[in-house]
Amino acid sequence: MMKQQTIQKNERVEEVFGLFIKHIQSFLKEANLNHEEYTNFVNWADRLGNTGELPLFADVFLESHVLRAMYTDKPGTQPSLLGPYFIDGTPLIEAKAGEPLVLTQRPDEAGEVMYFKGNVSSTNGQPLAKARIEMWQNDATRKYSAFDSDAPRYNFRGHFYTQENGDFEVKSIVPLPYSIPTDGPTGEFLEYTDQHPMRPAHLHFMFEAEGHETLITQVFFEGDEWLETDVADGVRLDLMTKLEEKNGRTEAALNFVMRPE
Ligand code: DHB
Ligand code: FE
Repeated sequence: MMKQQTIQKNERVEEVFGLFIKHIQSFLKEANLNHEEYTNFVNWADRLGNTGELPLFADVFLESHVLRAMYTDKPGTQPSLLGPYFIDGTPLIEAKAGEPLVLTQRPDEAGEVMYFKGNVSSTNGQPLAKARIEMWQNDATRKYSAFDSDAPRYNFRGHFYTQENGDFEVKSIVPLPYSIPTDGPTGEFLEYTDQHPMRPAHLHFMFEAEGHETLITQVFFEGDEWLETDVADGVRLDLMTKLEEKNGRTEAALNFVMRPE
């Protein structure tokens, strides 16, 4: 049986919805939208919903602006997009004695092995021990498990914890540039506006530590050809790392600074 819902007045919704309608109306006026264009838009938006691409479209064109407005000029590592490919319930990755943490993968996984390491601290310089790190990325076929690849659900997804001094190191593969889907309503829009669908290669992270704001961010690699024109505008200067040949292996490193609540 459907539960009767009582919807209460919400002042924040009233304020935001009022602004939304006001700006949409002035946009319609400025764009001089005719009725056929309006109908095309409604049909397109309907497809966007029906294909499940609404989160993709919103994350590509809007999420970064929400983040910028919230965090620019604040101390600590800049957040970047959560994006549409986060899932929860990922496995805990535990160290076997004398071995590195290994991000969930198949035994014969393709890709260039990479060791990613860093440190998590608070804005006052204090290292954060046992901070929870959620990590996800695409595989050597450039796909994300649970979305566009047939890899097991948690492939290249998992969580682990920092050591007492805030350090962590995880073995994974080098992520590759990602094309957002081009065969749906989001891609259609990119084509009309002559934009490429690429994101630079990136690692996804979510950091959680007691008394601190959750930090959702991404890490990018120097030299990537899509850094300047990331379709989703997620790149930030302090989120750059570089691949280095060290100790006979490929390494990359970045430190992260979390803001107290
Ligand atoms: C988006 C973000 C990603 O990290 C990604 O891999 C693909 C798309 C997005 O913002 O839509
Ligand atoms: Fe991504």
